[in-house]
Amino acid sequence: MRIGMLTGGGDCPGLNAVIRAVVRRGVRESGHSFFGYRHGWRGVMEGEGFDLTLDTVGGILVRGGTILGTSRTNPLKECSAEEVLSRIAVAGVDALVAIGGEDTLGVAAKLAAAGGHVVGVPKTIDNDLSGTEVTFGFDTAVQIATDAIDRLHTTAESHDRVMVCEVMGRHAGWIATHAGIAGGADAILIPETPFDIEEVCGYIRSRHARGRDFSIVVVAEGAVPREGTFEVSASGVDEFGHVRLGGIANSLAAEIESRTGFETRVTILGHVQRGGTPTAFDRVLATRFGIGAIGAVDDGAWGQMVALRCGEIVRVPLEEATGTLKTVDPALYDVGRTFFG
Ligand code: F6P
Repeated sequence: MRIGMLTGGGDCPGLNAVIRAVVRRGVRESGHSFFGYRHGWRGVMEGEGFDLTLDTVGGILVRGGTILGTSRTNPLKECSAEEVLSRIAVAGVDALVAIGGEDTLGVAAKLAAAGGHVVGVPKTIDNDLSGTEVTFGFDTAVQIATDAIDRLHTTAESHDRVMVCEVMGRHAGWIATHAGIAGGADAILIPETPFDIEEVCGYIRSRHARGRDFSIVVVAEGAVPREGTFEVSASGVDEFGHVRLGGIANSLAAEIESRTGFETRVTILGHVQRGGTPTAFDRVLATRFGIGAIGAVDDGAWGQMVALRCGEIVRVPLEEATGTLKTVDPALYDVGRTFFG
């Protein structure tokens, strides 16, 4: 079979590990050939890509990013699912492995529903995709954020400052919650639980009253204040209609400083969380997903996504995975809350 592969949406450590695993297993054990589409769905629309061989996937396991490139192109904005499928067929591609998050896999689900030979692999540092307990890239992002929080701790303590650290997490606060717990944050603010600014200031004041003259506040970029007490900056929307976030930490820090009188500084980690080499956990998970994906192709399990459940790689319908977002478990958030203030 000739198999196409693409990576869509925001990049993520571990994408190359998936590509390598799919090609290595597919060429060696099933005799497939592979075509890598450039820049996600844009490559499908424009017929742009290159052959993926054992040589082209050599040495990429530890590399961050994606050798295929990525984009947030939504092909269904301009074409029907049938038209997209015919472009794939015309290029002589028999089946497609789509590696992405909710948007990329949402398109994959629609193509599969229209009869396309498509399987999905779940990717996102945000860990907000349903159907799988974890996505690759998340562990790396959490480690990067935790390292940053550890470093902010020492400088916060030296200067008696409040440090507001903003992490990614548009609709779900998985990175904030995990990194906040791991880094001993004094408040963690996530999209799932609108925060009360006075409560946050209360945590900080109570620490200072106990002689702890510094505080760490971890905020997910998509966190929202209760009752809209201040504006969150956003700049435009992408092709899937998502608002571009980033910057809530600035308004939050100004508000904390003016309400408490404590000197406050801001660190926005941004795309640092998506860059660089994957952790060992993400390399292994991505490799297992890749092997699972080629297995699904060999079985003709179209419309399925590989997923991790109870330690096993399983298949779940793409529609189930992309129907609703996986938000932070309140019990986990409660673990973090124990240490607020
Ligand atoms: O991939 C998801 C994500 O990491 C979100 O957390 C964040 O809002 C977004 O990507 C940023 O995307 P871009 O790279 O387009 O700025």
